[in-house]
Amino acid sequence: MSNNQPIVIITGANRGIGYETAKQLKERGFRVVLSARNTEEGQSAANQLGVDFLQIDVAEKKSISNAVIDFKKRFSDSLDVLVNNAGIYPDEGESILEIDELHLFTALRTNTLGPIHVTQAFQELLEKSSRGGRVVNLSSKLGQLSNMGDVAPSYSISKTALNAVTRQLSSTLNEKKIAVNSVSPGWVRTDMGGENADLSIEEGADSVVWLADEAPSAMTGKFIRDRKEIEW
Ligand SMILES: NC(=O)c1ccc[n+]([C@@H]2O[C@H](COP(=O)([O-])OP(=O)(O)OC[C@H]3O[C@@H](n4cnc5c(N)ncnc54)[C@H](OP(=O)(O)O)[C@@H]3O)[C@@H](O)[C@H]2O)c1
Repeated sequence: MSNNQPIVIITGANRGIGYETAKQLKERGFRVVLSARNTEEGQSAANQLGVDFLQIDVAEKKSISNAVIDFKKRFSDSLDVLVNNAGIYPDEGESILEIDELHLFTALRTNTLGPIHVTQAFQELLEKSSRGGRVVNLSSKLGQLSNMGDVAPSYSISKTALNAVTRQLSSTLNEKKIAVNSVSPGWVRTDMGGENADLSIEEGADSVVWLADEAPSAMTGKFIRDRKEIEW
């Protein structure tokens, strides 16, 4: 293994877009650390791809801090790319007028606070990346404020807030040469997207992989869809 091999952590990668991102980044020569909250499912997914596994429940701060210790011990003192992919869609057709507070809290906890806490925890390692650290936040068209309707309020609000997190982190981490961007993968045929979605999982992971690897390293604080900047 080359010392120049970039290393990436992908959260919630036991299935869906995260798993596909792990597969494609491995094919591109990355050392992939596939992360999941469920150890059995995560380890099994990692075994299928021939990559390493790291347990992280992004909704549990203790799990995140343990993961940093484990990562340093088993893998490296530096991290090149963090893909904040883990996400939930708790809405069940409710409207903002009768929103279930628990749905809103759980969406914010996983989709918004999760990426904040994981990025905080791995920030010091990202700073040590020899190629400039990258953080990729999996947002959504439903979080796009300029296009906001009334669908899935808990999920949508949590992803809009995640976009604000991207802007905050990109400003604050710019001087440390860490790029932070949001990505809208499109409507993708995963467990979350369902079988009627427009895009295959391979297509859904495309811009995520591009941001993790090929996008200009100076590009930060953007919202990306199909490898192009879109409105917030
Ligand atoms: N599919 C789409 O159309 C679409 C569109 C726009 C954005 N996105 C975003 O893309 C990302 C991936 O979505 P997907 O379609 O691949 O969804 P998915 O198939 O439902 O997978 C979601 C993944 O997140 C994990 N996860 C949930 N809560 C977690 C936690 N607390 N800690 C760690 N992992 C956790 C799940 O783990 P378990 O297996 O343990 O539940 C699963 O691995 C999400 O952020 C989603 O919001 C998806």
